[in-house]
Amino acid sequence: MNSASAIVVSNLTKTVSTQAGQLTILKGINLEVKSGETVAILGPSGSGKSTLLGLLAALDSPTSGEILLDGVSLTGLSEEQKADIRKQKLSFIFQSFMLVETLTALENVMLPAELAGIADAKQKALAMLDKVGLSHRLSHLPSQLSGGEQQRVAIARAFIANPKVLFADEPTGNLDHANGTMIADMLFELNAEQHTTLILVTHDNELAHLCQRQLVMNAGELSETVIDVAKEPVQ
Ligand SMILES: Nc1ncnc2c1ncn2[C@@H]1O[C@H](COP(=O)(O)OP(=O)(O)O)[C@@H](O)[C@H]1O
Ligand SMILES: [Mg+2]
Repeated sequence: MNSASAIVVSNLTKTVSTQAGQLTILKGINLEVKSGETVAILGPSGSGKSTLLGLLAALDSPTSGEILLDGVSLTGLSEEQKADIRKQKLSFIFQSFMLVETLTALENVMLPAELAGIADAKQKALAMLDKVGLSHRLSHLPSQLSGGEQQRVAIARAFIANPKVLFADEPTGNLDHANGTMIADMLFELNAEQHTTLILVTHDNELAHLCQRQLVMNAGELSETVIDVAKEPVQ
């Protein structure tokens, strides 16, 4: 294995039981992502993108195959060990923001820093919220913020603990074009600053092309591809 790999995935499968029988969602995924690389995953709805992200982020366990995260195999780790890896090395941005509704913007951003045992969590959170232009919204609850503002809080929260790998599952999917562009700009700016490895699921070809690599998931199979934006059919 290349020691500069953030993620190495071998023969990963995920099968779940449904009322209609066994459903194989992921059919033998192989993938290597280098440290600091930015990778977009495209593909139709229901093809297995979120399931793959959940496995890579140690939120769910595969049926077979292996994931090495920063050189450490996730196979056989206890839930507590996986939680530790998530706290120390990983973070997430979701389409639906997923802020803690009962915490203010500042408290939401401080939370992962506190969980990771970082000193000066409050000072760091204030600086992150300043970077995303929300210094005037510190004591607002998520319900008092617009969608774009909530996602900016989520970005500040995602970067505060300097993650090794950041997973973003359709981060602009619930935003209008102007807000989506602003969020993408902030995401890539902070990513470049912190040299984070970025794995981003999106339906947006423009956003996908801000990444160094584009992969396509199709019915549980992942392939590397070169997509010509100009030739993509309008959906
Ligand atoms: N826990 C589960 N039980 C049953 N089916 C699931 C489960 N998780 C996902 N699926 C199904 O697997 C397929 C892939 O889901 P998902 O990874 O969310 O796709 P995507 O993110 O590409 O839209 C979908 O058909 C979904 O309904
Ligand atoms: Mg999904």
